[in-house]
Amino acid sequence: MSMDRKSQQILTAAQEMSADELEGVVEYHHRLYWEHHAPEIDDPAFDQLVERLKEIRPTSPILQNLGPRIAAQSSTIVHVTPMLSLDKCYGEEAFMKWAQKMPPGFMLTPKIDGLALSLRYDAAGFLQSAATRGNGLKGEDVTANALMIDDIPRQLKTNMGCEIRGEVYMTLSRFNQVYADDFSNPRNLAAGALKQKDARETKVYGLSFFAYDFIGNLLASESEKHERLIKLGFKRPPTFFAESAEQIFDHVLEQSAKRHEWDYETDGLVIRIQDTKTQQELGETAHHPRYAIAYKFQGESATTVLNDVEWSVARTGAVTPVACIEPVNLSGAMLSRASLHHAGMVTSMDLSIGAKVQVARRGGVIPHIEHVVEPGAYQVVLPEACPSCQTTLRLSGDFLYCDNGTQCLAQRAGVMEHFLKVMEIDGFGPKHITQLIEHDILNELSDIYRLSLAQLTGLERMGAKLATKLLDAIESKRAVPTRTFLAALGVREVGVTMAKTLTTFEPNFMDLRQLAAEDLLQIHGVGESIADAFVSGMLKRRSEIDELLRFIELVDTPTEDVTGQFTGLSFLFTGKLSQLSRKEAQKMVQDAGGETPGSVTKTLTYLVVGDEGSPLLGDGQKSSKHKKAEALNEKEANIKIITETEFMRLLA
Ligand code: IVH
Repeated sequence: MSMDRKSQQILTAAQEMSADELEGVVEYHHRLYWEHHAPEIDDPAFDQLVERLKEIRPTSPILQNLGPRIAAQSSTIVHVTPMLSLDKCYGEEAFMKWAQKMPPGFMLTPKIDGLALSLRYDAAGFLQSAATRGNGLKGEDVTANALMIDDIPRQLKTNMGCEIRGEVYMTLSRFNQVYADDFSNPRNLAAGALKQKDARETKVYGLSFFAYDFIGNLLASESEKHERLIKLGFKRPPTFFAESAEQIFDHVLEQSAKRHEWDYETDGLVIRIQDTKTQQELGETAHHPRYAIAYKFQGESATTVLNDVEWSVARTGAVTPVACIEPVNLSGAMLSRASLHHAGMVTSMDLSIGAKVQVARRGGVIPHIEHVVEPGAYQVVLPEACPSCQTTLRLSGDFLYCDNGTQCLAQRAGVMEHFLKVMEIDGFGPKHITQLIEHDILNELSDIYRLSLAQLTGLERMGAKLATKLLDAIESKRAVPTRTFLAALGVREVGVTMAKTLTTFEPNFMDLRQLAAEDLLQIHGVGESIADAFVSGMLKRRSEIDELLRFIELVDTPTEDVTGQFTGLSFLFTGKLSQLSRKEAQKMVQDAGGETPGSVTKTLTYLVVGDEGSPLLGDGQKSSKHKKAEALNEKEANIKIITETEFMRLLA
């Protein structure tokens, strides 16, 4: 059957279809087009099917998911230069043995605990492929995922073919803020995040990347390589330089003591000879280069005594244990408190007061109780009542909860603190907040806007000057972006990132708060528990929110997020596109905020050459637009001439 007839038939049939059937048909033709590159109907017919679906089921998730879908390829990539590992050593003696064999001139960088990644860029400076280390000779292709990491440029600042190596990791601040309760360490989480089948999932994790090696033309030293990396648009780990082995070791000690200030996990330092010629002369074994070594920090843990367990009430109502320990020195800091995560840990470790316990700083700044070395005399029992309001606690899984909500003073203080922090109303300390609550001045969030100078100056240690400053801070934040307001409410599961996701989907707060769970579920990244938490939060706190809105003006999200990724850029297509129609490509550019001029001018940003019979890929003929762009580039223009595939990557 001809494409025309088939298109006509389907369009006629679509008029009678139920929403479910139509979803199936749209999905089917979408796949034929994008995945099999074998459409059965023409583009206008497909567009009409989509329009019909919009009419009869405007909330269909399929409508949110049109266009190319990037799935991580499970194919492998051969490393042109093998990715070796590093030889390692522990302690001063072993280190000196290595260093004394080396000529002077070293560079030191933290050894970041993440995953090694090789990025290859083509001559035009576009990311061509990204691969994990794998077995060192070949790794997994994670190109689509790598494009979801903000620190990895899709295009280098300077056009040049090269390979960049570095480490993908998750910052400790992100890990501790979002994932620490559910995942054992940032490295494993980063590995899982990088290998997501649907590359868009990778973005949600907010991974980071540090570049530590440049493989291209030979540069004279490691410091030149690092300068180059920065010029190309990469972040690199902090570096230190040392001449002699003794000097290095001083650095090692200094950095080892500072490691907990870094926002990533490290298990040591990488020490390399500076001069690349000397590196080549020293060569490598089958496994590791001779010119570099990893100095591993000693595992940091200590044994001490558990003196007490305190219970603290979070704004969410979770009541969590904190271990009070006999002060102990761990990597230069005296510690007297350690985290116990949740009530379940007290039970599973069978904790007792007076027990000898092992504390360690495993992935983070906050030390944990690792295990009990020797039991103590008195069993730690879970509290039955909330330490703040005496309400009977509820145990759910590993967590204890106080269900008294903001009637519980500790929770109320937590909610207030969170609100002020997210709204960036600075100057209120936890003590002020507690006092205001105890004086019955702050009962609900909107009371913040009713505070008077007299009320504030009535508090202990609060003069007119500070009180005026606080009132000014409140006044200055009367108009806030919707997403900030939403995040400040502290609805369970709706933090800053989720508030952004939700307000991007529906910028109008009045409309957003009305959405039902099924509407929310079509948003990428919103699952059932988030949707339910949002809906019930909006419902439960309706009057509180209405009251707040009498004082606060919600403004639109700042423009940077409304405009698309192509804002300020222009794209012109030439030749035959193999993956999509020209019209479609233009629409995608426009949807992403870009422009699609009709002819080549010196202000054009990109000329996209279709892959079919492309002169960029084989020996096809250059179109007149292509030649014109090249001619303009010879003079003053800087039009980037890219392939269709590169364009698709830019879009991704
Ligand atoms: S230099 C021959 N620098 O450690 C490899 N590596 O066991 C030269 N790593 O696979 C690597 N941080 O993934 C270097 N600042 C850093 C690093 C680093 C982490 C990892 C890297 C490599 C492994 C070596």
